[in-house]
Amino acid sequence: MSDVPDRSFDYDYDGIQEYDNPLPRWWVYLFIGTIIFAAVYYPYYHFGSGKLPSQQWAEDMEEWNRLHPPVPLPNEDELMPMSSDKGVLERGKGVFATRCVSCHGPDGGGQVGPNLTDDYAIHGYSRANIVKVVNDGVAAKGMIAWGPQLSREDVVAVGLYAYSLRGSKPANPKAPQGDPIR
Ligand code: HEC
Repeated sequence: MSDVPDRSFDYDYDGIQEYDNPLPRWWVYLFIGTIIFAAVYYPYYHFGSGKLPSQQWAEDMEEWNRLHPPVPLPNEDELMPMSSDKGVLERGKGVFATRCVSCHGPDGGGQVGPNLTDDYAIHGYSRANIVKVVNDGVAAKGMIAWGPQLSREDVVAVGLYAYSLRGSKPANPKAPQGDPIR
């Protein structure tokens, strides 16, 4: 091992030796720099007035919500003319096929979710009620809130399509749930 320079440690494992080189200066300064940075950063953001990403995010969301107040869902009078619009129902049918059949069945006869075609409803059977359930969901019962996931047009269209299913004859109707529709 004669070619190993002087500044190596005094051991030799199967011919493997370790140099005792000093760390490069720039590296040492960088390292000390990170410690100084942390000593300022940590107290400022964790105990001082600095905002952590989660706080900043919450504030930005509050600001965004203030600037964009939620647009109210259309009421029954506004929905009524739309529910006979073929284009709206076609659109709703498309959304239903991708988003709703897994729980309400391909023809709305119900699976995990209730039968949408019978004369019973848990949350009422007006157009507005149905659009609201679709938009807000029923988190505790496993009905997804579609408002945050779909456009308003899709929520309205699929709600009105669900409304239009009443009276149709599904292949495997689920037993009624909720109250009789008056
Ligand atoms: C993950 C399963 C699931 C999916 C997907 C789902 N639903 Fe539901 N839905 C449910 C469940 C469960 C209920 C019953 C809620 C309750 O018991 O209050 C429900 C309730 C409803 C109701 C109210 C029925 C009533 O009797 O009042 C409507 C309307 C409805 N869903 C429409 C839709 C539409 C439209 C879609 C697609 C955009 C959809 N659902 C997607 C599970 C689902």
